[in-house]
Amino acid sequence: MRFVIQGPTELEGEVHVSGSKNSALAILSASILLDQPVVLHNIPRIKDVETSLSILEHIGVKVKFLEGNTLLVDPTGISKNQVPYELASRMRASIYFLGPLANLMGSAKVYMPGGCSFGPRPINFHIEGLTKLGFNMDVEGGYVIAKRISKPKNVHIHLPFRSVGATIHIMITSAKMHGTVVRITNSALEPEVVDTANFLNRAGARIYNAGYDEITIEGVSKLSLDEYEIIPDRIEAGTFAVAGGILGKVVIRKVIREHVQSTLNKLEEAGVHLNWLDEYTLLVSRAERILPLSIQTAPFPGFPTDMQAQFMSLLTVADGTSIVKENIYPNRFNHAYEMIRMGANISIDNGVAIVEGVRKLKSAIVVASDLRASVSLVIAGMMAEGETIVEDIEHIDRGYENIERKLNMLGAKIRRES
Ligand code: EPU
Repeated sequence: MRFVIQGPTELEGEVHVSGSKNSALAILSASILLDQPVVLHNIPRIKDVETSLSILEHIGVKVKFLEGNTLLVDPTGISKNQVPYELASRMRASIYFLGPLANLMGSAKVYMPGGCSFGPRPINFHIEGLTKLGFNMDVEGGYVIAKRISKPKNVHIHLPFRSVGATIHIMITSAKMHGTVVRITNSALEPEVVDTANFLNRAGARIYNAGYDEITIEGVSKLSLDEYEIIPDRIEAGTFAVAGGILGKVVIRKVIREHVQSTLNKLEEAGVHLNWLDEYTLLVSRAERILPLSIQTAPFPGFPTDMQAQFMSLLTVADGTSIVKENIYPNRFNHAYEMIRMGANISIDNGVAIVEGVRKLKSAIVVASDLRASVSLVIAGMMAEGETIVEDIEHIDRGYENIERKLNMLGAKIRRES
């Protein structure tokens, strides 16, 4: 599948941010712990959520969209404790099913989620965490297998790095371990961790201090709640802010200010105009001249690695030399090589990209290699003069709901072709 983009584009209008992909994935996995059905609001209709729903159905959970983005999840009939290759290999977040399933059923196996196009993505922190929670961990035939062998009373897990996935996985595994108290230190501070903890706490869990660097979980025996609303996607909000900051004037609705602060700080530093119209509505207006930046990706509240590619498109036309250091995934620069085909001047060495601003980008045929790379190339395509083709665009559907519809409503000219 490809996008054919006619540029350059002038963007103007209003856009609503969808529900957070990474929160939805975590909360859908955590929902298997509930003792009654739950209604989830603001679930984004994206490919990764579809994969999660397929996994839920596979293990015996009933799921049904009631309307739009409102989903009913009924986990009362879980009958399987395995997630096979066809489902687990589609996305990394499949691993979130391992701990809670093993806790409910005594054992579980999930096919090892793969690496991805921007380098290895190990799961050693998850395995070490579950081991400390009393599971024997093994890998056999490509499956990661967890079997309960003990029920510890007090557990301390120190994460070597503030891993979002390991924090969430350990938290949802421990939430319903009645009689066990778990302390996670150096835990991730991301809003998606907090959203998952809020969801579980509303259901009766006892998770303290999510969003700080030490989380305590006192396992409970029952969890239930009627409904919950997922937070808006901070990376989607940031993506539209970058697009508006280069290409026009965009009102972005459903933005949580503290979730996007580091992204907005960098946009302002680049000369983009930002105005809050109300608590959750941001007006972004194009910079007259884009100033070069120095960016380092870091765990929240630092500058997100998931915004690095989009900023790269902005910096290709900055007035000077920018430096982008990728500290989370040092090889996450595939998009930069594609932007070079469009006339960008970027050199990459050892996890650092040096971007010399050029006057404008030129249209080309480029290939998208992952979700954020895809959207950054779409932005670049809207900036370039002429027809840009972005191949392998299916990655974008993993994490952006109706992306071309939203952009076309703002004035973009994007056509999807099979
Ligand atoms: N790491 C390990 N061992 C582990 C886990 C992580 O060495 O067991 C390393 C990773 O290789 C990486 C760092 O720790 O260098 C941080 O990884 P983290 O575990 O925080 O990432 P993740 O949970 O796998 C989530 C998001 C990613 C986002 C990262 C970083 C989900 C489903 N995914 O991944 O989102 O880039 O956090 O913020 O929540 C995206 O949305 O495009 C995306 C890739």
